[in-house]
Amino acid sequence: MNENRFSGVRACVFDAYGTLFDVHSAVARHQARLGGLADSVSALWRTKQLEYTWLRTMMGRYVDFWQVTGDALDFALETHRYEDPDLRRDLMEAYLALDCYPEVPEVLQALREKGLKLAILSNGSSDMLKAAVESAGLSELLDASLSVDVLHCYKPMPAVYQMACDHLSVTADEISFQSSNAWDAAGAATFGMRVAWINRFKQRPERLPGRPAAELESLSELPALMDD
Ligand code: 2OP
Repeated sequence: MNENRFSGVRACVFDAYGTLFDVHSAVARHQARLGGLADSVSALWRTKQLEYTWLRTMMGRYVDFWQVTGDALDFALETHRYEDPDLRRDLMEAYLALDCYPEVPEVLQALREKGLKLAILSNGSSDMLKAAVESAGLSELLDASLSVDVLHCYKPMPAVYQMACDHLSVTADEISFQSSNAWDAAGAATFGMRVAWINRFKQRPERLPGRPAAELESLSELPALMDD
């Protein structure tokens, strides 16, 4: 049962990639050029992208998410023996205009009508987030898109979650943080946010500290949880 777990929340903060935006929609648009390996390329691209953010943060060698995303794509394409600069360019361009999940606009609208502040908190670079938000038509629904760019480190570093509190002038406990990434959900929960893990991909729970207050199949169930 989820009742009261979100009482007192004043802001809803969202992870971007995988939570609002479908990262696999980039490859899906060019599926015919990748044939039967499309899913495998997309999965490796995402896995490497995340690994590079964590590793670079630990190494103290930050580059922005655009660079990380390109490096991860190069690794995935090379692994699958694709050497096609046009394909690389088109996949990167597609990343700037990812599909948002179908429920996202109406969920954001419903949360706004409840008087909640709404923001993205993402590893994405400012330019990438701006492009994705505009392309999905979400600009008017969000109060802010916060990028780790200004910090030069990636989630789940606590400093990133702190940025949302500072920008929105709320405490961690007054934020409901939504992520489909279980590691990100764990990071926000250990920081002290209320967390809804949007388990879109029906994953097993991570063995990490920080429990989500709710586990949802999509964002559609979120507005009702804010009615406490
Ligand atoms: C984000 O948007 C990487 O999905 C992660 O921050």
